[in-house]
Amino acid sequence: MIKNKPVIGIIPTYNLTNETKDPYQDRASFVRMYEEKIVECGGVPIGLLHQHVEDYLSLCDGYLWPGGSKIWPDFFPVLEDALKNKKPILGVCLGLQAIGTAFNLKEEREKHPEKSLEEIKQILKDTDHYLKQLEDDSFHNHCVTKDIETQETARHLIKLNKDTLFYKIMKQDELNVISLHSFVLPYAAKDITIAATSEDGVIEAIEYTKKGAQILGVQYHPELERTSELFSWLIDASYHHTMMLVNKQNPIPENYPLKIMLYQSEYPECQNDGNIREEAMYSWLCLRDTMREKGFYIDVESAYRPNALQRKIYEENKEKYGEEHANIFVARPGYSEHETGLAIDICMKKDEKWINEFDEGLDDCYHLLHKICADYGFILRYPEGKEEITGYHYEPWHLRYIGSPRVAKYIMENHLTLEEYFKENGTIE
Ligand code: DAL
Ligand code: ZN
Repeated sequence: MIKNKPVIGIIPTYNLTNETKDPYQDRASFVRMYEEKIVECGGVPIGLLHQHVEDYLSLCDGYLWPGGSKIWPDFFPVLEDALKNKKPILGVCLGLQAIGTAFNLKEEREKHPEKSLEEIKQILKDTDHYLKQLEDDSFHNHCVTKDIETQETARHLIKLNKDTLFYKIMKQDELNVISLHSFVLPYAAKDITIAATSEDGVIEAIEYTKKGAQILGVQYHPELERTSELFSWLIDASYHHTMMLVNKQNPIPENYPLKIMLYQSEYPECQNDGNIREEAMYSWLCLRDTMREKGFYIDVESAYRPNALQRKIYEENKEKYGEEHANIFVARPGYSEHETGLAIDICMKKDEKWINEFDEGLDDCYHLLHKICADYGFILRYPEGKEEITGYHYEPWHLRYIGSPRVAKYIMENHLTLEEYFKENGTIE
């Protein structure tokens, strides 16, 4: 399967009707507004079912954990998968409560490893750390469907805490949100950061971002808003496999998993057939074909390079031009983006002749390439004037697949390097 959009697994909403006499009361349902938001923001929604959840977690790049009337521990493996594989989760309403409860249970369990899950749950209940019911007249407990025309009546203020992921996404000190819930999370485990609260102290947003995790839950209903910041974040964060920084300071991690696909370039001197990382392939083919339609017959000069090939290129360059030259044109083995399969050096056929970075005549091609590459999730990795930051000479031919077209456009429109983007987003010091 070749895909270029992240797959978002949606946990079902169980038994919203509470018709306990209904023999079908345990049916799973999926709220269309969530699907629509995911599609609008560039993801592919799929519904997760109750059975054998572990078997299909590998299909998902991120998760949406929406509301409902009951927390099903059957879906706790989703949280484990997200933590282990750095996949993002957006929890909404009961989703926040489910994530928060899972962390509360974990914290208590670590204190009493000998106790069963039921006993741990009882301790949380006894200490008022389990879910708590709100008073009937609480301003959180508005029925949005009654007020669908005048949703303003169902809104209330929440205050965001600075230095949180939630704040970084919403960029506002306060939000006037739509609420619809009768339970709250009364306590957040020490590992969890409370990212927003309402004036009566109700926890309105929680997050866990340690060790590269991307878990965020909100108590209100962002699917009812016209804007889609949280869903855009979820989709962008789901490109976690391809959103990596490799440079002179950051080598390729050991045992870094690679799925390389065969790409046979037409360029006769192409290195290693031009093989490309699986996640980048579909976007590359689309970008290549668009460039060809516009009169620039581009192809791969060099994309995935195994470590030995990178070593050979580096050593040859060093021998020919000296170490100083080599260090600003070629990465040392173990430090090249080409070893990730996410970098592509392009060449072009013109009048039956191939031209590459050593030849004249590619300027118009580069101009268009840099203008449109972000639409396909690629960035110009070594821009002119940013040599101090990247550590490399300007390389107009070297594209880097990062995944999200939204993030790629942001980087290109603001003339940023990947280093600057990561710094701005707090990922590196
Ligand atoms: N030319 C780039 C820096 C590389 O060798 O990865
Ligand atoms: Zn390159």
